[in-house]
Amino acid sequence: MIVPTLPHSNPWESIRALQMGSGRSAIQNDTDEVRLFAFGRQALAAGLRSLPSGSLLVPAYICDTAVDTLPAVGTPVRFYPVKEDLTPDWDWLDQHRSPEDTALLLVHNFGFPNDIPRAVEYCQYASLSLIEDCAHSFLSEFEGEPLGKTGDLAVFCYRKTLPLYTGAGLYSTSGRQLPAGSANTTNTNIWAYRQMLSWAVYKTRSSFLKRFLNRLISRGESYDPREPSGIDRYSRSLMERLSPSVESIRVKRRRNYSALAIELKGMSSINPIKPVLLEGVSPWGFPLRVEKRDELLDRLRSNGVGAWSWPGIPRLLDQEAFSSEARLARETLMLPIHQDIEQFHIDHMVKVLSKWTLEQPIEQVTWEQFHEDLPRTP
Ligand SMILES: Cc1ncc(COP(=O)(O)O)c(C=O)c1O
Repeated sequence: MIVPTLPHSNPWESIRALQMGSGRSAIQNDTDEVRLFAFGRQALAAGLRSLPSGSLLVPAYICDTAVDTLPAVGTPVRFYPVKEDLTPDWDWLDQHRSPEDTALLLVHNFGFPNDIPRAVEYCQYASLSLIEDCAHSFLSEFEGEPLGKTGDLAVFCYRKTLPLYTGAGLYSTSGRQLPAGSANTTNTNIWAYRQMLSWAVYKTRSSFLKRFLNRLISRGESYDPREPSGIDRYSRSLMERLSPSVESIRVKRRRNYSALAIELKGMSSINPIKPVLLEGVSPWGFPLRVEKRDELLDRLRSNGVGAWSWPGIPRLLDQEAFSSEARLARETLMLPIHQDIEQFHIDHMVKVLSKWTLEQPIEQVTWEQFHEDLPRTP
């Protein structure tokens, strides 16, 4: 059994996108509302260039690829702590204000809206620009509006939700002048053929075929932060072709998330980070917190489950000063719930997870803990 990490386009969609893409210009229209890039990190770097220069406040629980290259392109970063629920520690931010800071990055982790009202209020009070990181949350909504409509800028990674080779966006709510879109002249037709092969492998559900063809179907990424590139022609056409299906993609992701949440309830040693699926959320994956994360990741992968670890810890993060965020990062594991996941994939993941859980030693409760948990009589 294989449970794919990423969604696929089917051969029909890939062929149509190839045909449409061949007639496209490599650069997008400058008048378009959203500037398209290959990767989210490029969209973020470009957005920062449109703001006054200074340092960017970023959460200490964030992925390395989002921030590691920012100093090299002219923006120093300063990390801020996050609370258990991943909202910014506003008190810490207030106590550690610096005149060098010009913007705050608010990450809507896993597709779940972060503390938007407080972020707006705080950024006004501290004279900071608010950048919403919607890398995981393209298709999520907050109070009936698409996420990313509140801050000064928003960054999206379409390639994390749709089966694209590249695809990220920069959007300005305040009508700010955004940098011109960059060209991407890469010929990604080979990626389209890989998608077709990959689709065939997943349809056969054969782990043997996957192992055999892995090198051919795995997605290679190359990125040079000094050369911002646009979305490639094939991915842009595919994105257009898939846009009528976004509602069904959202529904499938939500259905899969809820099904998994119900099954995982009560499994000890496995703690869903977001146990409740809020209205409007289109989840990126199903995040778990597991002490023996790498052991479970190995187990899942050896059983064909395309689970992954996220986030890679940023190079610049002082892991002692931000020990709880670094620990959470080391213990986060993501399960796939995307639009190509079916009930039999979920059943398989649940089987592997419950077997692993049953093998874990039962946690011994000390007398002090037991005593602490006893209901108190007033
Ligand atoms: C929250 C967040 N922002 C930005 C990025 C960067 O996206 P990309 O890999 O497309 O550059 C990532 C990557 O995982 C991310 O998790």
